[in-house]
Amino acid sequence: MITYNEVFENNKKWIQERKATDKDFFKKLAEGQTPNFLYIGCSDSRVTAEDLMGTEPGEVFVHRNVANIVSNIDLNAMSVIDYAVGTLEVKHIVVCGHYFCGGVKAAMQAKDLGLLNPWLRNIRDVYRLHREELNAITDEGKKHNRLVELNVEEQCINVIKTAVVQKTYMSGGYPTVHGWVFDVQTGELIDLKIDFAEKLHEIQEIYNLGSAE
Ligand code: CO
Repeated sequence: MITYNEVFENNKKWIQERKATDKDFFKKLAEGQTPNFLYIGCSDSRVTAEDLMGTEPGEVFVHRNVANIVSNIDLNAMSVIDYAVGTLEVKHIVVCGHYFCGGVKAAMQAKDLGLLNPWLRNIRDVYRLHREELNAITDEGKKHNRLVELNVEEQCINVIKTAVVQKTYMSGGYPTVHGWVFDVQTGELIDLKIDFAEKLHEIQEIYNLGSAE
């Protein structure tokens, strides 16, 4: 386990390593960011966006919360999406869930979780939408994994429901939204291959915010 002081020792080493490879590394970083990706993932300490994607500083704009939820009344998530799409003009938005997710596991329990109730309600809602499929799975581990995947899909839909994503896509052809799952046990990143165009089309039947102007 890393100690408090080791963090700052590591930081000094990291600066030296970066400068050894590229002496202007930090000068370039200070000039600005042009990330291609917005990554929305879980806060879980095992699921680090940059490591699992193999990206460098400046390449991915990151938002993480418990169980990678995209709630339309969460000012934080909505601001991140608005800024990433409207200003940074990211080309890809990823919602990345993970197997062995404590948030999803908690939501599957029949109990009062206090302050977490309203947050994890989002996952219980996903369960309700897909209860026939989920109830048919007898193995608890497999049921959990499937709910992780369905939660990712539902949060992708929530991203697509936003006006900024719809309008930017209608006028510029990007961003596209992707659903991923990280398997903590194998390290594998799985693309759920969500059909963005099809989802957008379905969503716009009811949540069409993109054809204004
Ligand atoms: Co998690």
